[in-house]
Amino acid sequence: MIATDLLDWYDRHARILPWRVRPGHGRADPYRVWLSEVMLQQTTVAAVKDYFLRFTALWPTVEDLAAAEDARVMAEWAGLGYYARARNLLACARIVAARGGFPDTRDGLRALPGIGAYTSAAIAAIAFEQPETVVDGNVERVVSRLFAVPSPLPAAKPELTTLAETLTPRERPGDFAQAMMDLGATICTPRSPACGICPLIRDCDAYAAGIASDLPRKSPKAARPARSGIVWIARKGDALLLEERPASGLLGGTLAFPSAGWDGRDLPPPGPADWSEIGEVRHVFTHFSLTMRVMLGELSGRPERGRLVPLRHIDRKALPGLMRKVWDLARAEIAA
Ligand code: ADE
Repeated sequence: MIATDLLDWYDRHARILPWRVRPGHGRADPYRVWLSEVMLQQTTVAAVKDYFLRFTALWPTVEDLAAAEDARVMAEWAGLGYYARARNLLACARIVAARGGFPDTRDGLRALPGIGAYTSAAIAAIAFEQPETVVDGNVERVVSRLFAVPSPLPAAKPELTTLAETLTPRERPGDFAQAMMDLGATICTPRSPACGICPLIRDCDAYAAGIASDLPRKSPKAARPARSGIVWIARKGDALLLEERPASGLLGGTLAFPSAGWDGRDLPPPGPADWSEIGEVRHVFTHFSLTMRVMLGELSGRPERGRLVPLRHIDRKALPGLMRKVWDLARAEIAA
């Protein structure tokens, strides 16, 4: 049995991760499962660990998080990317705190902000032992190999989901889901899978056919379009101008240097200054790559937007990744 073999392997080899309860050590806290699964959307385990530890130290329960200030949560999320997640996280925490806890079904969870098909299944299985099937990139790879599915991703997704459903056990569905993820992350890896130590080697059609490392097939991706923009470092004595970005849209709700041209906003400089270009920064978003010209100037009048923040109060960690690059360039220039 695939599920039994995999769970036996998981009992011995589960990765120890801060949001996990060890196999056989009782139920996971739905708050910690939810928080980790939202953080892990499009983000690696390595990147998430420290953020998860910091969030749970600051806000140990969903009620604590629900009571937090928006700007504080955005600042703690800074650097993790996909900032809509942080806004939805707070909206969700407030609904859950008001209703007295998380819903315990996939449909109930899916009705909450920021919880989609994947995350609702993961929370239902891991926190509530519901026999839901969790399909992420790791699971797609494992299943495509077990059944030697020749059709390419992303078109193969529905087929892989149906096949994954046939494997999910009624007992320990949460451990099963995490075991599939661990197998995909540590043994059934994209390149050079370690088939020799795989607990499912006898069940794997791709291994039998000698094609494990060729699967899953993928349709060619469209090239990422390039965008360009401009960002202004506006000085006033020893202070720099920062602004909170509009709540919706790219980097929504984050703290940023005023910018334009790359995000659909065609704005003038944020105030009167003799601007000079000090360099450019490059950043890759999921749907485009960006080159920003960085302008520096001393304001000769009042800024038209944002607020002046003394240099010593600018916290690099509170800025999103793109703006950290801008800050690093500006700081080098200002120090020079
Ligand atoms: N990726 C998404 N959810 C995960 C989990 N619970 N454990 C490990 N990796 C994950």
